[in-house]
Amino acid sequence: MSLHFISAAEAATHIKHGYNIGLSGFTPAGTPKAVTAELAKIAEAEHALGNPFQIGIFTGASTGDSCDGVLTRAKAIRYRAPYTTNSDFRRAVNNGEIAYNDIHLSQMAQEVRYGFMGKVNVAIIEACEVTADGKIYLTAAGGISPTVCRLADKVIVELNSAHSKRMMGMHDVYEPLDPPYRREIPIYKPSDRAGLPYIQVDPKKIIGVVETNWPDEARGFADSDPITDKIGENVADFLAADMRRGIIPSTFLPLQSGVGNIANAVLGALGRNTTIPAFEMYTEVIQNSVIDLIRAGRIKFGSACSLSVTNDCLDSIYEDMDFFRDKLILRPSEISNSPEVVRRLGIITINTAIETDLYGNVNSTHIGGTRMMNGIGGSGDFTRNAYISIFTCPSVAKDGKISSIVPMVSHQDHSEHSVNIIITEQGVADLRGKSPKERAQAIIENCAHPDYREMLQDYLKLSGDKAQTPHCIRAALGMHAELEKSGDMRNTNWEDYAM
Ligand code: COA
Repeated sequence: MSLHFISAAEAATHIKHGYNIGLSGFTPAGTPKAVTAELAKIAEAEHALGNPFQIGIFTGASTGDSCDGVLTRAKAIRYRAPYTTNSDFRRAVNNGEIAYNDIHLSQMAQEVRYGFMGKVNVAIIEACEVTADGKIYLTAAGGISPTVCRLADKVIVELNSAHSKRMMGMHDVYEPLDPPYRREIPIYKPSDRAGLPYIQVDPKKIIGVVETNWPDEARGFADSDPITDKIGENVADFLAADMRRGIIPSTFLPLQSGVGNIANAVLGALGRNTTIPAFEMYTEVIQNSVIDLIRAGRIKFGSACSLSVTNDCLDSIYEDMDFFRDKLILRPSEISNSPEVVRRLGIITINTAIETDLYGNVNSTHIGGTRMMNGIGGSGDFTRNAYISIFTCPSVAKDGKISSIVPMVSHQDHSEHSVNIIITEQGVADLRGKSPKERAQAIIENCAHPDYREMLQDYLKLSGDKAQTPHCIRAALGMHAELEKSGDMRNTNWEDYAM
């Protein structure tokens, strides 16, 4: 049997209204681009004729504009899971136009397998190589590709020459069996391999191969600034101190670092602190700073789901593949983020909060309690199972009008039971071994911005101390209500909200 090459436009005609499509990729890395862009044109044409045309999207995490962006603008998405960062998609979700299911990324593949979200009709998989006997070699991400390839009726391969064939061998494709047959995932250190370097698909299911040359639609990172640098220094100093105290072994433990500008800057600062020995990463995304630190010898090995790096950084990895081949591994998201493996390896996790409350509950996803930012991503997979779980954030947002430390989070993703450490540019609140009231003092004194410390202490006075977790329920969201009213939390007068 030989490969059947087709155009992206022809491939898109295999996707019908009401279908669910399963995509490769994780962040814009490794996401298909050409077929979804053509699909948006079909949706627009059908809508112009007055016909319905909407699909469901199952993917690893966020995608690029030629998927989430164009399909949102074409009003072609009925349902989507999980994490996304596209601003048009965010607007549509917050307008109530799309059913968005924001689940832990480690659970995405298994929830599709368990049938929680319906059938996968067509899988679209970006590859750097595909063989006539059905071996698909992925590009810059593992995502949920093995699962959607196996479950889909039809598979379309986007063979993208913007990705080097030198990527072959980088992936470790392992898909666990479902209960009651599941066994332990045989990974005992970040560099262990458990599976194959390719996905084996029944070649009869591959209905076409679309040749493209389309670079990943990667986003750049904001330069670090004095605030993110200070947060990074605080993280590094904290970890160095815990190592001196013997809490972290002198050989150190693998790190996980979250997504976004702050995480990128924190990791850079961590690498610069040479009191911390060279370390390994067992993480979800590898961003630019990790690549720099591998080159500098500060990171010894990186296991991840995706290379979420800028395109120039990705090209430099391809050029230097002989150097990187034994220092990087890419896995499906249910393995890179596996709670079982995270707990076993003793990962130190560092994720970014939108806001945290006085007791250590964390909101990673919602602005003002109702508006979706991106999603929970893998932060919960790692936090709940961490050796030490850390959340970082600047103490204030929007020029000081918003305090990231609030009496009660307006939406909760991570509970006080899972969160060990909160770090802002102000300092470090170590919540380990503390009661809720002790935690509240540690957070106000060490992490809150000076503009808000008195206000938060006043809130605690209002709440009294005759409770395990003191709150004045009427005022608990008073700072958020004040933000809605006057646009500045600094105007909060507790008397207005405690009545
Ligand atoms: N209220 C309102 N807006 C806030 C806010 C708050 N309490 N805290 C931050 N923001 C805004 C910022 O002002 C910024 O707005 P802008 O885009 O208009 O400039 C935006 O949120 C992003 O903040 P930024 O400071 O640039 O941080 P980031 O790029 O590091 O992203 C998260 C932070 C939380 C959005 C991001 O880390 C995320 O999506 N996390 C959830 C998923 C996750 O943790 N994945 C990791 C698993 S491995």
